[in-house]
Amino acid sequence: MNKEESLLLLKKEIEENQNLPLYGEGNLVFGEGSADAEVLFIGEAPGFHEDKLSRPFVGQAGKLLDKLLLMIKWPRESVYITNIVKRRPPSNRDPLPSEIDAYKPYLERQIKIIDPKIIATLGRYSMNYFLPEAKISRDHGVAQFAGEYLILPLYHPAAALRATAVLKDLETDFKKLPDILKNPLMRPETAKIQKLTEEDKQTKLF
Ligand code: URA
Repeated sequence: MNKEESLLLLKKEIEENQNLPLYGEGNLVFGEGSADAEVLFIGEAPGFHEDKLSRPFVGQAGKLLDKLLLMIKWPRESVYITNIVKRRPPSNRDPLPSEIDAYKPYLERQIKIIDPKIIATLGRYSMNYFLPEAKISRDHGVAQFAGEYLILPLYHPAAALRATAVLKDLETDFKKLPDILKNPLMRPETAKIQKLTEEDKQTKLF
């Protein structure tokens, strides 16, 4: 089965799970983009427009995300975009910890299938899902590992629409993406092994 087929199957599984919170409240917004994407953007939960169209980031925040992608010349179809919680919480309230937990196994499988090089989190909820201790004002724009995942915490585009200073930071951080993709950080363990091998080579040479 290829990645696209695996994603379709996963989508069907979520659709059919009537025990998931928010089931029956709104449409499933599974996510969209290239199954082979190197960068996976993860937001919080769908809003009004996303629910209507069953597509992630298609409202005002989505328009800003599109602009940012255009700025770094990445077609929207070349990345993958999804959310932690895959149905709209009523009145756009913040997702509950129980909702995040319930959708977690599906998000984990979605990430495993796509197997991206970078996960760019959009907003606090998504960042804290991977990096529970992180603070968005301090840690945005700094790539770091959470287990095997390389995370780039980004401000949520909706926050950037409310404050010019946040927009500037989001643009600056977004521009780092192509470089991080070209020269990805090495996992600390991998870096250590490579350093030891290098040292070993040097001692053998002299
Ligand atoms: N905000 C999110 O976190 N996700 C969306 O899909 C849209 C707005």
